[in-house]
Amino acid sequence: MSNNDIIVSLDIGTSKVRAIIGEISNGTFNIIGVGSADSEGIRKGAIVDIDQTVQSIRSAVDHAERMVGIQISEVYVGISGNHIGLLTSHGVVAVQNEDREIGEDDIDRVLKAAEVIALPPEREIIDIVAKQYVVDGLEGIKDPRGMIGVRLEVEATIITGAKTAIHNLLRCVEKSGLKVSDLVLLSLGAGQLALSKDEKTMGAALVDIGAGSTTIAVFESGTIVATSTLPIGGEFITNDIAYGLRTLTEQAEKVKLKYGCASMQDAAADVTFKVTRIGSNVDKEFTQEDLAAIAEPRVQEIFQLISQEMKRLGYNELPGGYILTGGTVSMPGLLKIAQQELDASVRVAVPDYIGVRDPGFTGGVGILYKIIKNIRVRNAAPKKPANRNKPAGTKETVRKSGVMERLKNIFSEFI
Ligand SMILES: Nc1ncnc2c1ncn2[C@@H]1O[C@H](COP(=O)(O)OP(=O)(O)OP(=O)(O)O)[C@@H](O)[C@H]1O
Ligand SMILES: [Mg+2]
Repeated sequence: MSNNDIIVSLDIGTSKVRAIIGEISNGTFNIIGVGSADSEGIRKGAIVDIDQTVQSIRSAVDHAERMVGIQISEVYVGISGNHIGLLTSHGVVAVQNEDREIGEDDIDRVLKAAEVIALPPEREIIDIVAKQYVVDGLEGIKDPRGMIGVRLEVEATIITGAKTAIHNLLRCVEKSGLKVSDLVLLSLGAGQLALSKDEKTMGAALVDIGAGSTTIAVFESGTIVATSTLPIGGEFITNDIAYGLRTLTEQAEKVKLKYGCASMQDAAADVTFKVTRIGSNVDKEFTQEDLAAIAEPRVQEIFQLISQEMKRLGYNELPGGYILTGGTVSMPGLLKIAQQELDASVRVAVPDYIGVRDPGFTGGVGILYKIIKNIRVRNAAPKKPANRNKPAGTKETVRKSGVMERLKNIFSEFI
């Protein structure tokens, strides 16, 4: 097996760092290795301690390497946070091939043209997503490869982020001894993986409820149109349990994972457990109902904040409803509360691959999914070696976003 067939994603979250190894063989994609490590150095989704984060990354990557028996040298890194912004942009180029057939290079050039925008100095482009292409005035084209035209236009969404946040992320990964293949907006990958074509077209919101942050991403007409990150998540529920039962956070997290329930209606009075109370070594018994009485109001509040944020973003009703993901949505009873609070159709999305069937893995698997889909689109493009610089048979590579090129220079100033 050559290394070219293997791609690795890294999702650096508040509670967990996850490295996921995907393998593409004979046109199918499988997850062959997963490494998770408890996160240190991340608060509410943002890196606050580089050295601790590096250790967590190393530990997750080592774990994945041991599982598969390979050495990981390059990773696709997920990015998210309240610093992410979206802009719409437009690019125009003349088709260069003599026969006027639109090729890969024309697409690259038109996307580059759309990336030429005035940005504040503290911001950087992470990625660009084509909403639609226009060939000689004909609108609504999703993939113009192989079409004939003179004038190629693109209407695109540009994803930007704060330079400092991007720098910290790149610094941590590179300090862990890994090369960054590219940065991928977590909700973009997760959206491609978890949302159906219809949901993305009609309009739907993907909500990733993690430990320290909740990211909303609205999809419409097939692409991401809005995103926002709120500083709330499963950690709040754990803290409420720790206060409510007067126990250590670590114990509260354990009982939450084992007995937690977000709906008092669904909780059982005969499911009991004991916790050690703070300041004594006396154990006290509680029931699942006690836990639900603590968790339910917090889960309600989380969905009220999500609903408020959706209104603030200007989306009152979306035909595709809400698709929930992220570790916190594993909690029994949560979907019911979400349906009550959001008053819309709501479902939970879990990656459908062996070894990662947990909503906490949606971000990491989504990164791989997005990269692979990109490779497939490129490989499906008509090959016209005469018009390419590359010799026939050269492996197509994924188009790198401008951020990597530009940041390499910035980055080298710091190291
Ligand atoms: N079965 C479960 N019941 C309740 N909560 C759960 C369950 N499984 C996981 N969680 C919670 O999910 C959260 C972790 O989710 P996830 O792994 O998506 O977060 P993260 O990516 O590390 O953090 P973030 O995205 O906020 O930076 C933790 O708060 C954890 O307690
Ligand atoms: Mg996360």
